[in-house]
Amino acid sequence: MEELHSSTENVYYRRSQSRNNRCIIILTIVVAIVAFVVGILIGRYATCPEMETNDPVHGFPEELMKDADPEISKLLINGMNSDKIRQNLKMLTEKPHLGGTDENHELGRKLKEFWEENGLDHVVLAPYKVQLSYPNMSNLNYVELLDDQGNSMYKSNLTEPILTPEENKTGVVPPFNAYSPPGDIQGVIVYVNYGRVEDHEYLEQNTSVSVKGKIVLARYGKIFRGDKVKQAEIRGAIGIILYSDPDDITAGDVDKVYPNDWWLPPSGAQRGSIYIGVGDPLTPGYPATEWAYRKRDPNESLAGGVVPEDWRGKMNVTYRFGDAFQNQGWKARIFITTHSKVVTTYNVMGIIRGAVEPDRYVLVGNHRDAWVFGALDPSSGTATMMEMSRVIGQLLGSGGVWARGLHRMGRGNSTLRALGTPLLYRSLYSATKKVPNPNSTEVAAGRSTVYDTWYNTYPWQGYHRPEVKLPGSGSDYAPFRDRIGIPCVDIRYSWNKNKLKLSSYPMYHSVYETFYLVDRIMDIGFKYHTAVGQVWIEMARQLSDEVILPFNVTDLTNVIEDQTDSLLDRFGQLLSDNQVDIVERFENKLEEVDKTNPYVVRQVNDQLMNIEKAFIDPNGLPGRKYKHHLLFTESSVDNYAGSSYPGLSDALTRIVHGDNATQQWEVVHKHFSVLLFVLQSAQSVIRDVSNFMYSY
Ligand SMILES: *[C@@H]1O[C@H](CO)[C@@H](O)[C@H](O)[C@H]1NC(C)=O
Ligand SMILES: *[C@@H]1O[C@H](CO)[C@@H](O)[C@H](O)[C@H]1NC(C)=O
Ligand SMILES: *[C@@H]1O[C@H](CO)[C@@H](O)[C@H](O)[C@H]1NC(C)=O
Ligand SMILES: *[C@@H]1O[C@H](CO)[C@@H](O)[C@H](O)[C@H]1NC(C)=O
Ligand SMILES: *[C@@H]1O[C@H](CO)[C@@H](O)[C@H](O)[C@H]1NC(C)=O
Ligand SMILES: *[C@@H]1O[C@H](CO)[C@@H](O)[C@H](O)[C@H]1NC(C)=O
Ligand SMILES: *[C@@H]1O[C@H](CO)[C@@H](O)[C@H](O)[C@H]1NC(C)=O
Ligand SMILES: *[C@@H]1O[C@H](CO)[C@@H](O)[C@H](O)[C@H]1NC(C)=O
Ligand SMILES: *[C@@H]1O[C@H](CO)[C@@H](O)[C@H](O)[C@H]1NC(C)=O
Ligand SMILES: *[C@@H]1O[C@H](CO)[C@@H](O)[C@H](O)[C@H]1NC(C)=O
Repeated sequence: MEELHSSTENVYYRRSQSRNNRCIIILTIVVAIVAFVVGILIGRYATCPEMETNDPVHGFPEELMKDADPEISKLLINGMNSDKIRQNLKMLTEKPHLGGTDENHELGRKLKEFWEENGLDHVVLAPYKVQLSYPNMSNLNYVELLDDQGNSMYKSNLTEPILTPEENKTGVVPPFNAYSPPGDIQGVIVYVNYGRVEDHEYLEQNTSVSVKGKIVLARYGKIFRGDKVKQAEIRGAIGIILYSDPDDITAGDVDKVYPNDWWLPPSGAQRGSIYIGVGDPLTPGYPATEWAYRKRDPNESLAGGVVPEDWRGKMNVTYRFGDAFQNQGWKARIFITTHSKVVTTYNVMGIIRGAVEPDRYVLVGNHRDAWVFGALDPSSGTATMMEMSRVIGQLLGSGGVWARGLHRMGRGNSTLRALGTPLLYRSLYSATKKVPNPNSTEVAAGRSTVYDTWYNTYPWQGYHRPEVKLPGSGSDYAPFRDRIGIPCVDIRYSWNKNKLKLSSYPMYHSVYETFYLVDRIMDIGFKYHTAVGQVWIEMARQLSDEVILPFNVTDLTNVIEDQTDSLLDRFGQLLSDNQVDIVERFENKLEEVDKTNPYVVRQVNDQLMNIEKAFIDPNGLPGRKYKHHLLFTESSVDNYAGSSYPGLSDALTRIVHGDNATQQWEVVHKHFSVLLFVLQSAQSVIRDVSNFMYSY
């Protein structure tokens, strides 16, 4: 649940078998497996009857022929030390470290030193000049209620009060929404529940209330906050006030809040960006390097009864639509001084050179900048990643590690939860089955691994395994998927969504997201951090060690079929005219692979790595030119949620809503043909390389 990070650190491991590996920080997730594959295969090859035994295939070093040492998995998993993760987190959360600040830069330098001490081959601190957004510290933002004479009847607190000594630090940025344009506006308020498309449609169809020219009041939750702003804006609202309703961030008991519990106290406020876009606002689609061309800053400002049951939160008031105040002439005022600034931020990247094929990468990463202390988001992930790099550093000389995927962790302590693209499911399941369950009650109930509790909590309907949802754009993996078709996964320990209907953990982006919260309330003993770290490090190892990349193409085709079914469920009537059958065109040909030949294995692994890239279209999705993945990307009405067939889904949704049907049907027809083409391309990728042309 993140957005727009100005700095990122990712570690990636290069596959290497006979050498050590260390971490690296980089922005990408790539694949680094083939080297291992070749090595192992050759080992087997040498013992094949057709071959001279002990006679290695010419040109392949001897060590490539040995299978990975099975002990390494245990050494890595057992090497993860919860106390070290705790110490890392303490260091990372000592000071607020908002993107673009000296404190965040200092953390970047510390990480660089840490990796150098832990033996990475190459560590860099790479600067970028990005446009970030900050409130004016000498003239803070607020919301005010004015009576008919213009007297202030209520004014919001400018900052969150200090509740424990831990928050009493300099550099805490007061609550604000980044990229809000500055302004001072007044108007009546209309309450729009969560501000989703369906909430606005309810108002439009079932009430006479219009948000046009009004200030919209929306509660946080369900969807990305930037999409709430977008929906209000396109309907002509002049401003928006976002708030956290007790219904969404407490268990109902006002005393069971921070610093006694993990629930948000009334004085807490969520910060966050409302930016919807790709990368830096001034250099969209390209790195914000020193010399990049920058757009001119467009400072356009946001254009300007009793609610139904499910719109009501838990404040002791009657929830009404608004559109007027009970006292005539009263108005709400929003005063915003937030402004944008181009600042320098740094990515820390470290590399472990692969001994065999240093041209293939596995990336592991996390962002570094936090809204305030960031003890959960993002530092729980960084603290764990640092521990991974230490463990791997110690195993120099024993085996290769590799991970593709950017993961974060630590959102609760109930169960693992994952978002990911289908090719990585297999490794995810396999790794979680190896990691011991950190909850002794669960173990006593017969669920001895992380996988067991995960499966028990989120069984996947129709499959005998835990559910993995498609990733949205909520975190750092998005550009890797969207731009270059890299399989990615985002894992975390989390609360049980079946029991607690939370959209985010309560303290999300508030000043109270402190080390104290994690250490004393949410993960006492850091057992859950360690478990996620163990899953992470084992996935990395597997992706490195296995002869054939552990990608299951059937998982991909199953998901494509399911998503096609759901598209047909939603739009079947519309689509029947077009007689398009997407599924039948996509077949799984991988099973025929000849595993006895190292060259074939290398070839197969290349094919596996390239399947996902077949779904990348340089022209982008219709109307979303920076989004290149035609199968999976984020939803256009909720940045946090994943969407499949996003191009069709967008156009068909517009048709259902009565937007220019003629034009949208053209989009559907055209995009269908493009989709058929990419699905055929994906098949071509896994066809026999000497006969790969598709016969149309
Ligand atoms: C911040 O507010 C102060 C006081 O109103 C003002 O003098 C200053 O110009 C503002 N700074 C920016 C960057 O807008
Ligand atoms: C914050 O720290 C300062 C200096 O240590 C101290 O004077 C002040 O009382 C503290 N404030 C709170 C609310 O604890
Ligand atoms: C309007 O209200 C009816 C009855 O409550 C409900 O079934 C319907 O879904 C509402 N329309 C929208 C667009 O939400
Ligand atoms: C506003 O700040 C005051 C003083 O720090 C505090 O007592 C009060 O609880 C705060 N109110 C809210 C709604 O946060
Ligand atoms: C941009 O900001 C300037 C100064 O605040 C203002 O005069 C102008 O109207 C703004 N332009 C737009 C398009 O909002
Ligand atoms: C809710 O507000 C009403 C009216 O102000 C008050 O009488 C009642 O005690 C409040 N209930 C709670 C649980 O605070
Ligand atoms: C451990 O599992 C038990 C039983 O499933 C559950 O009640 C408890 O809340 C779990 N503990 C944590 C810390 O998640
Ligand atoms: C698990 O998290 C809950 C909050 O969800 C917290 O109250 C509890 O103390 C945590 N348990 C452990 C063992 O960390
Ligand atoms: C691949 O996935 C399919 C279906 O999801 C499953 O039946 C099969 O066992 C998987 N194969 C491997 C090797 O994991
Ligand atoms: C609908 O789209 C067509 C084709 O692009 C265009 O000619 C027409 O002006 C559009 N109509 C409206 C109402 O936008």
